[in-house]
This record gives sequence, structure tokens and C-alpha cells, in this order.
Amino acid sequence: MEDILGGYEAYMNPSLARTYRFMGLDHAEYTGHGAVVVDTDGVEYIDCAGGYGVFVQGYRHPRIVQAAHEQLDLMPLSSRILVSPRQVELAKRLQELTPGDLSYSFFCNSGTEAVEAALKFARASTGRTTIIATDGAFHGKTYGSLSVSGRDLYQAPFKPLVPDVIRVPYGDLQALEAVMSDQVAAVIVEPIQGEGGVIVPPASYLPGIRSLCDQFGAAMIADEVQTGIGHTGRLFAVEHSGVVPDLMCLAKALGGGVMPIGAVVGRPWVWKLFDESPLIHTSTFGGNPLACRVGIEALNVTIDEHLPERAAALGEWFIPELERLQRQHPDLVSEVRGRGLMIGLEFTAPGIGGMVMSELFQRHVLAVYTLNNERVLRLLPPLVIEKDQLEQVLGHLSEALAAVELVKDDLLA
Ligand SMILES: Cc1ncc(COP(=O)(O)O)c(C=O)c1O
Repeated sequence: MEDILGGYEAYMNPSLARTYRFMGLDHAEYTGHGAVVVDTDGVEYIDCAGGYGVFVQGYRHPRIVQAAHEQLDLMPLSSRILVSPRQVELAKRLQELTPGDLSYSFFCNSGTEAVEAALKFARASTGRTTIIATDGAFHGKTYGSLSVSGRDLYQAPFKPLVPDVIRVPYGDLQALEAVMSDQVAAVIVEPIQGEGGVIVPPASYLPGIRSLCDQFGAAMIADEVQTGIGHTGRLFAVEHSGVVPDLMCLAKALGGGVMPIGAVVGRPWVWKLFDESPLIHTSTFGGNPLACRVGIEALNVTIDEHLPERAAALGEWFIPELERLQRQHPDLVSEVRGRGLMIGLEFTAPGIGGMVMSELFQRHVLAVYTLNNERVLRLLPPLVIEKDQLEQVLGHLSEALAAVELVKDDLLA
């Protein structure tokens, strides 16, 4: 293994190599199946990180892999001169599955590109520039999406960012109302904040944003890159509140754990920019046949295997079990929260999350803290995970917390 971390050090990112070493993450991945990752020594890990939301359908789902093979043998990338049937099939499926009159899709290759597109579409359709975003948000790391994200650490070295962004506290409708005006092009929001620490907003929050956007003629952008598809117990997390956004960003799980893909789905009024020029926003690889074929199969598998319902049912059992552990360790874990199988454990001090993550890793469970809030360990397992695997996770977590109890005073002193 040393040679691989040595390679990170020599050829890519020495500081990242040091972090991996410090955390004891010194095993290399080899393959995976279902909710399990296998390292180069054949050791199996139960994956509760799910590639930060990518592996909803698990690793190498046979139907998705087969679809990829078929398309690979036919036409993986597009000529971009002849029209692409696969894009149409995926766009049609998204129109059918997304709520309300979300009608048109634009395809790209990642979450951050989906957010970039949504911001541009909102600005072009409204002729306005101001974007309202939320503290703690994570929308990606290219310029536009970084500009609407909520962590200063990631923004500071790159300033000045895209102008006219106003940040308000997440979940706070009054704060939003106070800055709404007829200058606002869009409000961008995650239905549940992922990297912010798995924050579930009050039930009135998304409907409140919807009505403020309607009142002021602004676009509502729902960033479902992490919440979609299925993790929260519904295909799209906005469905819990019955709200139809004007633009919905998707990526991660839409690629079925096999291909990178991103998509923005929009209502007709935010698609008017393409009337001016059909090529006003494009991406060479976006919507390639391989990714689209995989995306269609990923959606079909998610529905055929009732994965959102599975997430809801497993979450209803798992979250109370985690709360039981929390009550046994109130000096370590301050809160358990989440919806379905998108769950966060908030610790009483920032360093504890890293310690618990390392202890879990030693017990062959993968979990990771959230990028904008190191106090929170996120559990976002593939939705194909079996109940007995989650039972094993509970056992290992109980041991991990007990181990951290013994050392925490020394390490945090
Ligand atoms: C809500 C949300 N939006 C956007 C992104 C960025 O996606 P990507 O890393 O594919 O660019 C992420 C990534 O974690 C995310 O969680």
C-alpha cells in the first residue's frame, strides 16, 4: 500500500497522502458488490459512505453494468452531429419522473456543472443577477457553484468570486424574506443540506421558498445532487413537501454507480434562453450515449427495486437504533438526524468525527464526515444494503464509540 500513498505524494497531492496516513486509511480499493467494497488484500468493508451519494444502486449493479457494456459496444460517445436517441430516452424518463411541469433536461458530467447550468439558466430567464444561497451549503467547486456554497475555507483563496450572491442562514424563512427583491434571479437550496451536516429544514421551509420565489418572480433551484435519487425515502427529496422547483440539479446516483453524469431539469419558462441560441450552453461530453443509457437503467433499477421505499423503511428502524447509541454516549454524540438513509451523527466536538471514522474503518465500515461540518459523520449507504449489514454497522459503531470514550480526553486536550 505504501507505494500507492507514495504515488499520491509524488504525483498528485502530498497533503492528501498525509491525511490518509493520519486517518489510517491505508488500504487500496479493488472491487465492490452491493454495499460492499473490497480492498486489494481481499478485505471487505460495509460502505456507509456510498461514494458521497453515488452508489444508491450499489456497486456494479448487474443490470446497470450490462446496459453499460451494451452501449459501449454500440456507441459510447456522441458524434454530436447526428442526434442522440439515448439523450431523448433519458430526458423523457426524467420528465415523467420529476414532479409537476419540470419538462426539459440539459445533460452534463457532474454535480457542479449541473449547478453552473442552473445558475446561468436562472440569470438568463429572469434578466437579473442576484442569487440567494444558504450558509453551510455545498454546491460544488467550480466558480459559480463555489460562489453559492457556504464555507469560507474553500472560497477564500479564489476571491473575487461571482458577484451578487447573498447568503442567508439555512432553514430560516424570515432571513430569506428580508433579502428577497425584484433583483433576485434565483434562490438555490438543498432540500436537505448534505455537506452542511445533514440538516433537515422545517417542513414549512421549501413551500415558503416556493411562495417567495413566486411572489418576486425568482427561480427556485433545488440542488438534489446528493438527496436525489431515493436516499431520503422519495425519488426526489422535494417530493416530501410537494414543492415543484423551477430547476432541479441531479448527478451522483443518476450515474448508477457506473458512469459520471449530471443533469438539470427545468420548467418551460427557465428554458427560454435556448430560443435565443440553441447552443447557448453546451458540453462536449454531456449527455453522451454511455452515460445516458446508464442513467436510464439507474432510474429503472431504483424504481423496480423500490429503493426509495426501502430507504424509508430501513431509516425508520435504523435512526431510532442510532438514537439509542446516542443516549449511551451523550458526551460524544449530541444528535442523530436525517431522513430515510441520509443520516448524520453530530458529535460534541469537531475532532470526534475523525476518530470515530478511523475506528469504524479499523472495523471495516466506511463512513465519512461532512465537508462543511466536521462535527457530523454522515451515513449514506447504498440503498441495496441489507438489514443485517446495518445491524453489523450498529455493533461496530457501538464498539467504535466505546473506543473513542477511552481516548477522547487525551486526544482533544
Ligand atoms: C448538494 C451537492 N451539490 C453539488 C455537488 C457537487 O457535485 P460534484 O462533486 O459532482 O461536482 C455536491 C457534491 O457533493 C453536492 O453534495
